[in-house]
Amino acid sequence: MEKKLQELKDEILDKIKSIRDANILSELETKYLGRKGELTTILRGIASLSLEEKKKIGSLANSIKNDIQEKFNEIKNSIENASVSDDFIDVTLPGKKFRRGHLSPLTIVQDELEDLFVSMGFLVADGPELESDFYNFEALNIPPTHPARDMQDTFYIDKKNKKGDLDMVLRTHTSSVQVRTMQNHGAPLRAVCPGRVYRCEATDVRHEHTFYQFEGLVVDKGINFSHLKGVLKEIGIKLYGPETKVRMRPKFYPFVEPGVNIEYTCFICGGKGCNLCKKTGWLEVGGCGMIHPNVLKAGGIDPKAYTGFAFGYGLNRLVMLKYGIGDIRLFNGGDLRFTEQF
Ligand code: DAH
Repeated sequence: MEKKLQELKDEILDKIKSIRDANILSELETKYLGRKGELTTILRGIASLSLEEKKKIGSLANSIKNDIQEKFNEIKNSIENASVSDDFIDVTLPGKKFRRGHLSPLTIVQDELEDLFVSMGFLVADGPELESDFYNFEALNIPPTHPARDMQDTFYIDKKNKKGDLDMVLRTHTSSVQVRTMQNHGAPLRAVCPGRVYRCEATDVRHEHTFYQFEGLVVDKGINFSHLKGVLKEIGIKLYGPETKVRMRPKFYPFVEPGVNIEYTCFICGGKGCNLCKKTGWLEVGGCGMIHPNVLKAGGIDPKAYTGFAFGYGLNRLVMLKYGIGDIRLFNGGDLRFTEQF
């Protein structure tokens, strides 16, 4: 019995010595010293002992109870009186680690390109993702019923304009920002317009309904095709290294004349032919051309006085090539194992 009492005393003192919370302390007080507490139960058991034992154990038990009660009071007081300056902060303990976010690979490459263009005197323009039929198609020389509309599968929005026509679309390309920028800034003009675009696509590894483009345009007196080629070459070198060459082959886009695609020598095989470039030695990454006079007119610029070029890169495609990403759907997939690699 004596041993049990001693053990209980040690246990209780050990438990409460480092407690700094008044509520927890009071719970423990009830647990050990309360009416149904462990110590009280032992004390009650003393009644059944012999007279001699009663004397011995009784006084021991009482003194233990008093010691414990005293300790409880002492800690209670110290908690009540604790001031801020008493708080002990162990500055050597490791801190709580905050998980830091990071940029998407699309943002990384977009930022790099923006920096390059800003260094060449371009402004960075923005436009709405929910766009009017006018800026997305008509102003770009694609009138209603023109078969060129079929080149882009479009999400039309169920919202009428002032004339009562359904004329809002999720922009199908960043070329929609071209005419807006011409109207806002006039000529001469150097601008890039990066952003998100949408198409009503059946998705697969190369097609996505939501993706990104990087558009650019230059309008000034005497701008010609060689200026365009010079800019595209700079971008190729920035993206894929100093050996990169650019190739342009005719391709129809209604808003440019002539229109061409943009191809770079494959940065894996250097142009010799490999799996990435499908043995051609070239990677196609976008389209470009000399701005059609009708587009300049729509932007309020006189096509007799000014000429210009425009280009549009598939930003996802640039990023996929740069980082060796095999499936465009990963960008919007939300799988952290993908996004955390960058
Ligand atoms: N808007 C075109 C597309 O989405 C890409 C493009 C082609 C942009 C030619 C241009 C251009 O500025 O001149 O496929």
